[in-house]
Amino acid sequence: MFGRLAAQRLNEIRTSIRRTTQASRSFSTALNYHIDTPDNKTDLPWEFNNANKEKVKEILSFYPSNYKQSAVIPLLDLAQQQNGGWLPVSAMNAVAKVVEVAPIRVYEVATFYTMFNRTKVGKYHLLVCGTTPCMIRGSRGIEEAILKHLGVKRNEVTKDGLFSVGEMECMGCCVNAPMMTVADYSNGSEGYAYNYYEDLTPKKAVEIVEAFRKGEKPPRGTQNPGRINCGPEGGNTTLLGEPKAPPCRDLDAAE
Ligand code: FES
Repeated sequence: MFGRLAAQRLNEIRTSIRRTTQASRSFSTALNYHIDTPDNKTDLPWEFNNANKEKVKEILSFYPSNYKQSAVIPLLDLAQQQNGGWLPVSAMNAVAKVVEVAPIRVYEVATFYTMFNRTKVGKYHLLVCGTTPCMIRGSRGIEEAILKHLGVKRNEVTKDGLFSVGEMECMGCCVNAPMMTVADYSNGSEGYAYNYYEDLTPKKAVEIVEAFRKGEKPPRGTQNPGRINCGPEGGNTTLLGEPKAPPCRDLDAAE
């Protein structure tokens, strides 16, 4: 009986891994090249807005003036926030100009890190964790439920421009798996938020999506009412008393 259940579970996991691999394969090619489109080409002007020009100065002040290129990641992040969640090639060129490097140096960074989106995303970009602990706890089902609810494929944007769904690898929140993060680009870089939603079920994930659609800010963190933050469900089972002070030598006592 146990053997049959284990084999069944193993099959489910294998199928899930196969699906994940296929999906990532089709996505990874999109990460590696750029083709000019009317809204994403080098001759389109792009610059940081006035508020962000101040932030650029602040970011640059964290690095020695002869190591400006070290600021490339925070600057790309700022550019992405300003640009509604994605980086057109002209924004990457603007960053290259600020840090005084050849544009290819910036493209290398933007294409390496999957947090940088080089095609349009929704105002709310939903990233479901695809790594093993979340996958075993049902993240594939959560992604499927959201995609079905929104009527899109992975990395597509809904017609109203509100939502897109992507995949991210482990976001360090495995204790409350399965989880997704929501990058909120609905209010420019000033109102930008990047929040975790944990202990998800497919139903709960869809409810969170609908709350965003209504302009609400659903409470982030664990969605399991039996858990406080990352504590065990139902409360602590160990370390229940006041911690004892560590033993100390009495320095006044005679040796
Ligand atoms: S595996 Fe999902 S947060 Fe670590």
